[in-house]
Amino acid sequence: MNSQKIPCATINPDASADSLEAKQPDVDNGTACYSKEGYFTTEYMAREWNKLWTDTWLIAGVISDIPKVGDYFLFDVGEESIIVTRTEDGVKAFYNVCSHRGAKLVWNERGSKKVFVCPFHSWSFHHTGELRRITDEDTFHPDVVNHRPGLSPLACEEHAGMVFVHMGDNPPSLLETIGLPEGYLEAYRIDQMKVVRHVRSEWGANWKVGVEAFYESYHLHAVHPETRGVMGDLNVQYDLYPNGASRMIVPLGQPSPRMNDQQTVNEGLQMMLQDAGIDPEGFDGTAADVRRAIQLAKRERSDRLGLEYERFEDGQLSDSWATGVFPNVQIGCHPEALFLMRFLPHETDPEKFYYDTMTLLLPADDPEYCPPGWMGLPENTDVSGQTRPDTEHYLVHEDAGLGMVLSQDAAFLPIVQKGMRSRGFKGQLWGEQEQRLRHFHVELERRLTGK
Ligand code: FES
Ligand SMILES: [Fe+2]
Repeated sequence: MNSQKIPCATINPDASADSLEAKQPDVDNGTACYSKEGYFTTEYMAREWNKLWTDTWLIAGVISDIPKVGDYFLFDVGEESIIVTRTEDGVKAFYNVCSHRGAKLVWNERGSKKVFVCPFHSWSFHHTGELRRITDEDTFHPDVVNHRPGLSPLACEEHAGMVFVHMGDNPPSLLETIGLPEGYLEAYRIDQMKVVRHVRSEWGANWKVGVEAFYESYHLHAVHPETRGVMGDLNVQYDLYPNGASRMIVPLGQPSPRMNDQQTVNEGLQMMLQDAGIDPEGFDGTAADVRRAIQLAKRERSDRLGLEYERFEDGQLSDSWATGVFPNVQIGCHPEALFLMRFLPHETDPEKFYYDTMTLLLPADDPEYCPPGWMGLPENTDVSGQTRPDTEHYLVHEDAGLGMVLSQDAAFLPIVQKGMRSRGFKGQLWGEQEQRLRHFHVELERRLTGK
């Protein structure tokens, strides 16, 4: 790598080295320009399927979606559908396919069943995977069915309120693979969070274009200029962890350094103050004081409502800790709530992906505690956590109601996808604000080549 030290922000220079907030040591990921073929061809897509998707830990869903024995949800990725179900012996995962002639066994995305009955010839299976009954079994030669063909299991583990699955034969340790420090994800208590919105929308770009756009804040000023009033897009701390994991801390509650006006408490900042329980009318600081005021107000709220925010650094109370779990996840972490975003490959088309995003809230029994306005939940959203909403599905040209910022991304990424196809485009050139992208690609390359 070049010997020149390129500056990137450190949020809290006083953070101790073992704090989750600490700036991580630099990683030398080189300066190579990667081939652009990986974004268009079905050959590369097949290689990713064989070497990556079917041989890595993937976040299948969240534990709070299957609280009771018998509860299940489906996780669809590429050409596979996987049943994740809670049994008496813990959470288990099976391929969603009947062992008789391969029909898709379970069709509802979520439900509660202790027996799955195949819609083709009514073979039935216990939710623990064992074969329960073969229809007209006396018409089968015993040699055909004597092995009692049940459902095919795959590796399945829980961590920090999420369920991970692995399709490979010898899954490595999940915790080591994730690469984030112990306690990082656990602090958010995702196991107690409830899904209040779940959207799965199809976007017109390769899944990696999605990951890349969400792994940097470099494009905010250009694609999302409205965020400039409330996001310190140039003060972002980028951190790289083992095995392709990474995060960026985006300070919220402060204007972008790209703005001339660093004084006015603009409309966006006023909304953030309000979310933290501060009346903007009575706020006598400047824009530079807002972020700190939010942190103090949330500490005070925590003391009053017993939210136990002692487990968070000050910065976690105000900022976005956008955390990437390789290969396809970004979690926007906040004390009250999080966005669990998955970038899932299309079944057949390398130039499409599914942007699957769950909004999860940590319920608190108090009327003043509500989801932050910037989470962009539609007005009629039930935020009580009592009812798990159905997943909303949208095709490429449908408005998924994700709010302005995400609609801007959904509209822009196909333009990037198309542009990269040009004979005049030679491959992506990343700066230090895009170091997470390089880190992601180094790991991807390592997985695909097996080196
Ligand atoms: S394919 Fe399932 S019972 Fe025949
Ligand atoms: Fe964006």
